[in-house]
Amino acid sequence: MDKKEYLKREVYCGNVSEELEGKEITVYGWVNNKRGLGGLTFIDLRDREGIVQIVINETFKEQELAKTIGKEFVLSVKGKVIKRSNPNPDLFSGKVEIIAETIIILAASKLPPFFPENSGNVSDEIRLKYRYLDLRNSRLQRNFRIRNEVTNAVRSHLTENGFFDIETPMLSKATPEGARDYLVPSRVYGGKVFALPQSPQLFKQLLMVSGFERYYQITRCFRDEDLRADRQPEFTQIDIEMSFGEPEELFAIIEDMVVKIFKIAGKSVTTGFRQITYKEAMESYGSDKPDLRIPFKIKDLTESAKKLGSNIVDGIIESGGKIKTISMPDSKKYSRKILDNINSYIREVGGKGVVWIKNTENGFKSSIKADPEKLSELYKENEIDTDNIIFMIGDQEMKALTLMGRLREFLGKDYMDKDKLEFLWVVDFPLFFYNEDEDRFDSNHHPFTSPYLDEVGLLETDPIKVRSIAYDLVLNGVEIGGGSRRINDLELQKKIFSLLNLSEEEINNKFGFFLDALSYGAPPHLGIALGLDRVLMLLTDEDSIREVIAFPKTTSSLCMLTGSPSEVSDKQLNELKIKIIN
Ligand code: AMO
Repeated sequence: MDKKEYLKREVYCGNVSEELEGKEITVYGWVNNKRGLGGLTFIDLRDREGIVQIVINETFKEQELAKTIGKEFVLSVKGKVIKRSNPNPDLFSGKVEIIAETIIILAASKLPPFFPENSGNVSDEIRLKYRYLDLRNSRLQRNFRIRNEVTNAVRSHLTENGFFDIETPMLSKATPEGARDYLVPSRVYGGKVFALPQSPQLFKQLLMVSGFERYYQITRCFRDEDLRADRQPEFTQIDIEMSFGEPEELFAIIEDMVVKIFKIAGKSVTTGFRQITYKEAMESYGSDKPDLRIPFKIKDLTESAKKLGSNIVDGIIESGGKIKTISMPDSKKYSRKILDNINSYIREVGGKGVVWIKNTENGFKSSIKADPEKLSELYKENEIDTDNIIFMIGDQEMKALTLMGRLREFLGKDYMDKDKLEFLWVVDFPLFFYNEDEDRFDSNHHPFTSPYLDEVGLLETDPIKVRSIAYDLVLNGVEIGGGSRRINDLELQKKIFSLLNLSEEEINNKFGFFLDALSYGAPPHLGIALGLDRVLMLLTDEDSIREVIAFPKTTSSLCMLTGSPSEVSDKQLNELKIKIIN
């Protein structure tokens, strides 16, 4: 740009206020809108702080230039601030406007595929292909402003609490967190690969062995897994580890941090989050991440249901199943059609269907054959309001609970206060779950999670019963964090690996370096990782973490913007000693 033309920006468009009335100022920004009215031209000029109205009147010298200005052009405008005759209460700058004296077109713009404020009406593919335009939208601008404030608050909170920010490698060996790895082939060692971290788990434990005592990192993790609204292949964790502490100490640090984070978006949170065990979460809510905004609980009515004299119910119970129920108010609103929809929903999510019982003008009725007297007895015995409808699912206990958990969420949505923030620690997860497909145990969290030491004996006899010192932080039904006390005893760690069906050779290949470290004075330690994107999604009231990630992938793991993943040249493949098999 010609030096003479340079106008120094003095104030952001969004910050122009009555205080500047009568002054000559220079603003920079994008043309949000341009309209003509009786010989005047109005431009809404937008920068990251907001919008100000520019007026081009007949005194403006370069009328021809003004005509060429289009939407999304970048301008610098110098002019006098005056009071607006028709104030706009929606804008901070709405009481004033700038009468343009000099306008410089800093950059022209082609007609964009969509205008920033309309990006909500555009397909996801187009939004993501032109993400840099999408990001001009005021809602997204606000989200990233909040994101920046949150990471700053996290850093200062953890620094105040004695945590050191230490970076760990991106190119390394696989860290198991239950997903597939993203692999990076090595050129120097053809045929060998690095894995991108699913989490910094092993390195942060090594930093405890090194004696740093308190570590944190706001770091990227990579997981090749099926995507959902709250999952991306690369996402950011607030990753934390500390030595010599107890879970309660860590919980207090995290809760204080959460209070500070939510305050940024004007949301008030009180510490002392509820804690429930995994067992209670499953039994009462049918989920290990229950949404406590929904006021209904699941009840086991297996014993009562036996008295109904229903062949179907008896059959389920005799084959070892349980009858799980939920009762909902306003039984009248459940028409045939609604009940059919509910039944289809349960089938869709893997159940056989759901039984209902309700009181009608003609007495108690049910979708199974049962004597109305006995149905009425069931209500009495369990002190259920006769205005309630009871839904029953009979199956093997965990399956019945999980299905009932889905139904609780499906039916309970209409009864919850959406503005509430229900934080919850779910503790004491089972150490293992049984992986039926592969006929073996898998870790519920990761294999470095410590069992309760007084339950270690059960590892020999009944491993599935062993509870772990693991905890998840849940907010409104979303798992926003997870962590545990770690195993710091070499023999116990080896034992866990062998229960996971890893051979001696596999253990040494994958984790030999780590086991080695455990034999050189590994202190007792514990930690947690919060999903920063999920926290931000809830903080900004968004439905997907994509709205708080600058350049996210599509749900099929593509980067629409850059067109990746993409093919590479034969030269590069040769260097990496990779042959593509079609
Ligand atoms: P975990 O696997 O539970 O624990 O991950 C911690 C948190 O990270 C978030 N998260 C994700 N967010 C977006 N997209 C994803 N694909 C994704 N996967 C996970 C969740 C989750 O609660 N190393 C352990 C932590 C520890 O034990 O200290 C770990 O990674 O909010």
